Amino acid sequence: MKKHALSSFLLLSALLVAGCGGYKAYMGLHGPSIRNTPDVHENVSLDQECLECHHPDRETDAPKPRHYKFTGCLKCHNEA
Ligand code: HEC
Ligand code: HEC
Repeated sequence: MKKHALSSFLLLSALLVAGCGGYKAYMGLHGPSIRNTPDVHENVSLDQECLECHHPDRETDAPKPRHYKFTGCLKCHNEA
């Protein structure tokens, strides 16, 4: 009985963490791919280029990720 309770607890916390949008990037998960929006993302590849639109200080209508200080944006945002 005790063992069952423990594993439920672990499963529940895992789900809670995973469901908490905004922190997934910090767990190393991959994000939405820029290939879904080729109209805005054609010919961009460098982090600097990404941040020209996605840096929080920029006044653009691009979404501003909390993890803008990450490097290698395409490692996580270039899924086929
Ligand atoms: C370790 C993987 C990883 C890296 C590196 C990464 N991201 Fe993300 N990104 C994510 C994940 C996961 C999401 C999904 C949203 C979430 O839950 O945080 C996301 C979401 C986004 C979004 C959608 C807006 C939002 O807040 O939901 C933008 C825009 C974005 N990232 C831009 C960038 C840029 C620009 C860089 C490089 C400076 C970058 N990302 C680097 C994983 C990453
Ligand atoms: C010319 C400005 C611009 C540049 C440069 C740019 N983006 Fe974006 N990005 C946008 C805009 C605008 C959106 C919102 C598009 C939409 O929702 O239709 C967006 C959306 C996103 C999203 C969310 C996509 C989704 O499906 O929710 C991610 C992730 C993202 N960009 C990552 C990047 C990365 C990584 C780079 C660099 C390789 C980059 N962007 C370069 C303007 C830009």
